Amino acid sequence: MIVITGAARGIGRATAATLAARGHRLILADLDGDLATEAAESIGCGAEGRALDVTDRSAFRELLTRVEADHGLIDVLINNAGIAPAAPRAVDEDEAMLRRTIDINLFGVMNGTLEAVRLMEPHRSGQVINIASVAGLMGVPGLAGYAASKWGVIGFTESIRAEMSGSGLAFTCVMPGPVATEMMAGTSSSPGGAGGADRRRGRHREGASHASRLERPAGPFRDGSAALAGKSPGQGTGRGQGLHADR
Ligand SMILES: NC(=O)c1ccc[n+]([C@@H]2O[C@H](COP(=O)([O-])OP(=O)(O)OC[C@H]3O[C@@H](n4cnc5c(N)ncnc54)[C@H](O)[C@@H]3O)[C@@H](O)[C@H]2O)c1
Repeated sequence: MIVITGAARGIGRATAATLAARGHRLILADLDGDLATEAAESIGCGAEGRALDVTDRSAFRELLTRVEADHGLIDVLINNAGIAPAAPRAVDEDEAMLRRTIDINLFGVMNGTLEAVRLMEPHRSGQVINIASVAGLMGVPGLAGYAASKWGVIGFTESIRAEMSGSGLAFTCVMPGPVATEMMAGTSSSPGGAGGADRRRGRHREGASHASRLERPAGPFRDGSAALAGKSPGQGTGRGQGLHADR
């Protein structure tokens, strides 16, 4: 059983479709529960959608506990949910939006990882895959808060991997380069994102600005099916990097 967060759209949804086609059982969790259910239905293969706000640790615990009770052991949790609000300069960014970025992108990943470990450790089996970004490896003007959250995801994943050495659990951090999703197009209707009202006020653009700063999406990840397509994002493309630990 594989649980993917932020799976109603973009990379999460494409990854879910790829994994379902390979015969995996999936739960697609997203802040937008209706869209997650719609995505699961369109993917088929018994995939199910669930509403989840990754910033709510007890809701995360409940979801994973329920999935294990209903479907058996969770083999893999993919912490993919994220937002990428852009502001020309961090100094002009709303504090609330900076906090929200850290809350979803970093605390959401920590919540999921820690709750998954709680369930997986007794079985000495399971893998947590955290989706960071190449923005976690460099400074990205216009995305300072986002880059901070992704540097955090990498540091957290590496640290917990070392702490859990010998536990039988595996921890993997994926650093995709630009992928053509709503986030990158600056058109995300994600309820967790900074689009909508902020964009209408002309204050934030989700991700659009850094597409040009990094590199245009191209190649095998154009369709967003990056994370688990059988090789790490960036392999052979030079745009993203996958850091694989333990396995
Ligand atoms: N698109 C890129 O170029 C790119 C590059 C590197 C890394 N990433 C990372 O990949 C992940 C997926 O990005 P994407 O481009 O597919 O984005 P997207 O906007 O297409 O999808 C993100 C999904 O996360 C969900 N979400 C937002 N807040 C949530 C919350 N609090 N709880 C649960 N779900 C929530 C949204 O509803 C949405 O369905 C993100 O972590 C992003 O930072 C993306």
